[in-house]
Amino acid sequence: MTTFWSIYICVLTIGTLIGLTWLLVGTRKGETKSETVETMGHAFDGIEEYDNPLPQWWFMLFVATLVFGVGYLILYPGLGNWKGLLPGYEDGWTGVNEWQKEMDKADAKFGPIFAKYAAMPVEQVAQDPKALKMGGRLFASNCSVCHGSDAKGAFGFPNLADNSWRWGGDADTIKATIMGGRMAAMPAWGEVLGEDGVKNVAAYVRHDLAGLPLPQGTAVDLAAGKQAFDTTCVACHGATGKGTPIMGAPDLTQPAAFIYGTSLAQLQQTIRHGRQGHMPAQNELLGNDKVQLLAAYVFSLSHGKQEEKSAE
Ligand code: HEC
Ligand code: HEC
Repeated sequence: MTTFWSIYICVLTIGTLIGLTWLLVGTRKGETKSETVETMGHAFDGIEEYDNPLPQWWFMLFVATLVFGVGYLILYPGLGNWKGLLPGYEDGWTGVNEWQKEMDKADAKFGPIFAKYAAMPVEQVAQDPKALKMGGRLFASNCSVCHGSDAKGAFGFPNLADNSWRWGGDADTIKATIMGGRMAAMPAWGEVLGEDGVKNVAAYVRHDLAGLPLPQGTAVDLAAGKQAFDTTCVACHGATGKGTPIMGAPDLTQPAAFIYGTSLAQLQQTIRHGRQGHMPAQNELLGNDKVQLLAAYVFSLSHGKQEEKSAE
């Protein structure tokens, strides 16, 4: 803050305090304890106002707020460039500084716990109930907006609690996905295939790959659809349509894993215009140690259940 603004603020603040004190003392009349029967001279519906001074306790309350204000301005930064008498405000008071202080405190407290988990393999962290609880909390505040509080996904956002993965479901891949984010690129095929081509291949994906019935009377050429798939789509989705995790091309044989819908209209939309799902990278936002806990939590959602089942 420049000296001008510092002085400006000091004058305003101190002026206000002096003004309020004057107002308080100046309007206080007579002996505080003596009550009068004099009225202010007006009456509304028979109700009159006595001309009494402020009650003592009320007056003291005002005095207390003034004393508090002065004390506060001496102890804490508030008056222009004055840093306050209390230690720790050498850089002035800002919300960012306060936040940083809280974070430093939290880091000092949780740092060693995070570090312990960061040194373990993700699969092992996924066995630790305490780590999963922390991971679950991180998930609720950072991931549930998109993936849902139960991690079961929504339109455009994959289910993380099942066993089908677009980018791979082993512990290290899950961690890599969360750390670095993912950018899926399904090209638009409307221009290449034409409207009939899009309809045929959409029906082929729904019927032959995903194994879902076609609505009665759908007029499409499934053989032409297969041909289009074999020439255009296999490069990414694979010869059997089971997908290629390295490019995030999903398995088209599992209807439950589709995030953009399985109706013919939705499939045509996907194929005509393409899709670009974006999972935002968390390495800079959360850092390795928190992502470690998140990866363990996500891993446990599908793998914990499997183990329970096999243990039964
Ligand atoms: C360059 C690689 C590539 C090619 C070629 C390609 N796809 Fe895709 N496809 C992807 C990727 C990557 C995704 C995931 C997009 C996303 O998650 O946003 C995807 C998603 C899809 C989906 C949506 C699945 C869901 O989760 O809802 C369908 C359906 C699909 N592709 C069909 C096709 C068809 C049919 C063709 C051929 C005409 C084709 N794809 C060609 C890469 C490709
Ligand atoms: C802004 C929305 C958004 C947020 C927030 C988000 N994600 Fe995602 N995430 C996505 C999308 C979209 C995809 C799918 C990308 C694609 O189309 O391939 C995805 C994919 C994933 C995948 C890969 C799933 C698979 O099948 O391979 C994992 C794992 C994942 N997210 C975990 C997380 C975790 C953990 C968090 C919290 C730190 C998180 N995500 C926060 C949108 C989000």
